[in-house]
Amino acid sequence: MQHDAGHDAPDVLIVGGGVIGCAIAYYGACAGLRVTLIDGERIGAGASGAAAGMLAPQVEAHQPDDFFDFGLAGRAEHARLAPQLLDEAGLDVEYRQTGILRLALEEREAVDLRGRAIWQRGRGLAAEWLEPDQVGTLEPAFGGAAGKRLVGALWLPEEGQVRSPRLVQALAAAAIRRGAVLHEGLPATSLQREGDRVTGVRTPAGVLRAGTVVLAAGAWSGALAATAGLHLPVEPIKGQIIVLGSLRRAPRHILWSGECYVAPKADGLVMVGATEERAGFDRRPTLSGVLQLALGATNLLPELGRLSVETQWGGLRPALPDRLPVIGWAAGCENLLLATAHFRNGVLLGPLTGKLATEMLLGKAPSWDLSPYSPERLSPTRQ
Ligand code: GLY
Repeated sequence: MQHDAGHDAPDVLIVGGGVIGCAIAYYGACAGLRVTLIDGERIGAGASGAAAGMLAPQVEAHQPDDFFDFGLAGRAEHARLAPQLLDEAGLDVEYRQTGILRLALEEREAVDLRGRAIWQRGRGLAAEWLEPDQVGTLEPAFGGAAGKRLVGALWLPEEGQVRSPRLVQALAAAAIRRGAVLHEGLPATSLQREGDRVTGVRTPAGVLRAGTVVLAAGAWSGALAATAGLHLPVEPIKGQIIVLGSLRRAPRHILWSGECYVAPKADGLVMVGATEERAGFDRRPTLSGVLQLALGATNLLPELGRLSVETQWGGLRPALPDRLPVIGWAAGCENLLLATAHFRNGVLLGPLTGKLATEMLLGKAPSWDLSPYSPERLSPTRQ
């Protein structure tokens, strides 16, 4: 397949069919851009398909900063998007504001969490410190002996979740309905660069051309960027998840400790995640990963030990050294947009990234200040 940069070349060619790529395809197609997306495997086969779907900016934040506000905006975008995707793609992405209980098993954690409740309430957010008996009232699983082991919990009712693989499928389906073209099983092998432009994307089926190329290839983004002479030091950070079966004993809310999170999904399954490991590109679950999660979950709530193990898997989060995403035009390469390396926050920030990237693809200034996430910060001379 050889596509010329003539009238049949799309405006935008997106490399990577995870949540970021599919969100850009959807928002871009909504804005009238002619979009093509390619993925070497299947849509959502990478980190997005493995993610537990946490929308948890409050529980993940240790201090108020731009990234905290960015995460809140990302969470708000999900609330707008979910009904839209139900309407356009007929898929329920299981957006649920189930709230998160960040449990403290030690006084040291409780001190930190009480402090977080104060600064987060100061920013107008719901964040309440609960004593153990209040935790038991909210979450009956902690009504008995399990509650006695707690020092308390930070209750964050505005946090939520989605079903991540479903979100990716819904974005892809809605993008196609809006005219986007998606090719699965078509890997990008390299970027073809001439001077300050990417002139095409090489694939086993030939070179694809487009006005603009978007690199949203997750943990594989660094290697592809290198083929265009760009420094993008993305590394894979593996996260393992165990899925438990539960019809009656599932907690009502997402439980979160210093060791793991336990997320009851809409169909009754319970996801326990997630490890953070450097293991190269090997995404297979390991005995020690599964053990770590099992101990974390049962230490939090011993009753979880009675649930059946349905399956387990691993995914590769794409991470830069500063653990922040990169969203912006590649330095020295005027038609290459980088939108990748969202680390633990790909699902949370995917739709918002899709919206902001589309603004840039339309030649506008993004409606959020993206300078903290700019490619310039990655320049070897700036590190
Ligand atoms: N955002 C949760 C995780 O990456 O495990």
